Amino acid sequence: GLPERVTIWEVGARDGLQNESAVVPVGVKLEFLDRMADAGSTVLEATSFVHPKWVPQLADAEELLAGLEKRPGVTYPVLVPNERGLDRALAAGVREIAIFASATETFANRNLNRTLDEQFAMFDPVVARARAEGLAVRGYVSMCFGDPWEGPVAREQVVVVGERLLDMGCSQLSLGDTIGVATPGQVKALLAAFDSVEPLAVHFHDTYGQALANTYAALECGVTTVDASAGGLGGCPYAESATGNLATEDLVWMLDGLGIAHGVDLDKLADTSKWMAGVLGRPSPSNVVRALRG
Ligand code: HMG
Ligand code: MG
Repeated sequence: GLPERVTIWEVGARDGLQNESAVVPVGVKLEFLDRMADAGSTVLEATSFVHPKWVPQLADAEELLAGLEKRPGVTYPVLVPNERGLDRALAAGVREIAIFASATETFANRNLNRTLDEQFAMFDPVVARARAEGLAVRGYVSMCFGDPWEGPVAREQVVVVGERLLDMGCSQLSLGDTIGVATPGQVKALLAAFDSVEPLAVHFHDTYGQALANTYAALECGVTTVDASAGGLGGCPYAESATGNLATEDLVWMLDGLGIAHGVDLDKLADTSKWMAGVLGRPSPSNVVRALRG
């Protein structure tokens, strides 16, 4: 059956804004995060402590954290690829991090400048030190269903990478359909291939319009944490044909219809996405935002 409650892991400020060709001013990012907290988001992935040359859009991570007014009951996880990133995150007062692994060789190389195997050596000390400091650590796995260079990705490959992150000490695993090619049957099969669904979250990009159907399939399998980005902002600059994440509004509309609690106010959310679309100078790709706010 379906869960009674779902945690929406809001990735708009990170996955969304990392993919904008324009660098969004830090003041706009802070207003976005504040409006999302005001709308009821409880997990706001804020930014990444990655190399500023790799993702210039998030080069203001220190400034962002310094200006962030953290609200009680809201967590602000950040992406950290290596120990240098962890040092920066700790210095900025971060308490939750996410490492991000690849299920494929090619994407490990393109996104992390590492081989599939080398990525674990990079993450291992990050997770150990973060845990020793009492930080919560999420592990992402990218390219869980398809890879733009390698094609379809074998389930076993995803499970091996994911179990390794859990063994390392990640408390949650977010399974990423980075290029949005998955369909619901594949989602169910992948979730069933893990020992337990308990630590699993899902991260769908909506490139082929399947994100909401895939989310419904994941909910039926017992997943209770779903990644989404307000207004469908998003993508990944290192993956060809990766467009926006599942729009938070589309998710909220479905959850409301199903009577599943989530705590986010749809009106405030849609206002925020409408405002952000104005800042970015193009309409939101979300059907629900368009239906509600033209
Ligand atoms: P590298 O070039 O191999 O790094 O990059 P290195 O370890 O060789 O170090 C080279 C230099 O960079 C050194 O400086 C380091 O100090 C510096 P030097 O000694 O030469 O002066 N450096 C750093 N500086 C600041 N912050 C750091 C950092 N690390 C090294 N953290 C690295 C390796 C991992 C750093 C690079 O490849 C990188 O930053 N990659 C990030 C790519 C990225 O952010 N991609 C998007 C996120 S993933 C995603 O979107 C998918 C997801 O949404 C899920 C899904 O959709 O599937 C999560
Ligand atoms: Mg993503």
